[in-house]
Amino acid sequence: MLAVAAGFLFGQMTLPSESVEQKPTNFDFLYVDSTQPEPEPAVIQKPDPLPNFPLDEADSLFVIVNKQRPLDPIDYTPETVVVESEFLDNSREIELAPIAAEAMIEMGKAAVDEGIGKLKLNSGFRSFEYQSELFIAKIEQYGEAEALERSAKAGHSEHQTGLAIDVSKPSEGCEIMQCFGNTEAGIWVSENAWRFGYIVRYELDQTPITGYTYEPWHLRFVGKELAEEYHQGEYKTLEEFWGLPAAADYLVSLE
Ligand code: DAL
Ligand code: ZN
Repeated sequence: MLAVAAGFLFGQMTLPSESVEQKPTNFDFLYVDSTQPEPEPAVIQKPDPLPNFPLDEADSLFVIVNKQRPLDPIDYTPETVVVESEFLDNSREIELAPIAAEAMIEMGKAAVDEGIGKLKLNSGFRSFEYQSELFIAKIEQYGEAEALERSAKAGHSEHQTGLAIDVSKPSEGCEIMQCFGNTEAGIWVSENAWRFGYIVRYELDQTPITGYTYEPWHLRFVGKELAEEYHQGEYKTLEEFWGLPAAADYLVSLE
């Protein structure tokens, strides 16, 4: 409205009535062609200039899933493929979303080429039902308080998106253990995953923000552009990267 009014006023003051083409260039930004629809307001991205992938849609590359942000629908099921590569140990026939699978194949080949050896895929896509069973099993194994910091409730796990993968290098020990972060493979993963569009999602000492203890094996695919920006900015959580609230606890208590 302001631009329309200002355009009208400046038009009256400066434009010769017979010559619309000669509108003064100084005021071009105020000129409104009333025959054209007003443009839609720009969608503000954070950070710019990344493509528009919503943070709250289950099938979005940038979806943020945490204790306060369940998937919608809660039992969301993505399209997945079995990750197949001679450069990876996928004896468990782990599945991922196709885009994440392709990136993991690229990463597995690089790990071999760069002397790290074959990474093992321990866990990828998990259905709502499987995550639910896993969470109950963790409660039985560790008790509720510790289970809550190790495992997500169904509908709250990145694994349910098909964009998260747990990796290891069993010959170095520390398979799905925190000491993986100090192995040669764990260090390589931490320093290089971003090159393939992955980030280590649950870093050391970030429990008050992520709600989970250190998981150097859990990688989240976010695409190469975002992963590079995340790496260069030395971010430690996606919540911090996107300016989202910390998610240490669920919004509703466990039944
Ligand atoms: N271990 C991670 C937090 C999960 O269950 O998704
Ligand atoms: Zn995981």
